[in-house]
Amino acid sequence: MILVLNGPNLGRLGTREPDVYGADTFEDVAALCRDTGKKLGEDVEVRQTDDEAELIRWLHEAADGRIPVVLNPAAFTHYSYAVRDAIAQRTAPLVEVHLTNPAAREEFRHNSVVAGVATGTIAGFGLQSYVLALHAIAELNTTS
Ligand code: DQA
Repeated sequence: MILVLNGPNLGRLGTREPDVYGADTFEDVAALCRDTGKKLGEDVEVRQTDDEAELIRWLHEAADGRIPVVLNPAAFTHYSYAVRDAIAQRTAPLVEVHLTNPAAREEFRHNSVVAGVATGTIAGFGLQSYVLALHAIAELNTTS
């Protein structure tokens, strides 16, 4: 089982700034993640919330269950020490993903407060960022 967790505004993909995030909807992201999971032989559950407290509860659930996570923290990436502290409690792998490359965008997106407690980060490949992250976790699961 792998949890794919998504933060604020990602549920609005498709209509949200399509020039930046593309035309694919959040349901397209979720379907692609589930399909990738099938190919990898892993159960994938995809969730999205605009609520920091809910995201933190899900991260606690992952920590308690030692469940690997693909996380797009969205804007929380740049300022949520609470999300960072929740991630720091995990023992299973957690890959931070972004559709865009925040380092190539506005200054305030250049810093990730969660990157230092993630296993690694994949950013800038659109929907493929999620596919690459799921492959990375599957690879870690088979080699560890
Ligand atoms: C994002 C990048 C963040 O800076 C932004 O706040 C998002 C989406 C991405 O996937 O590219 O909401 O995480």
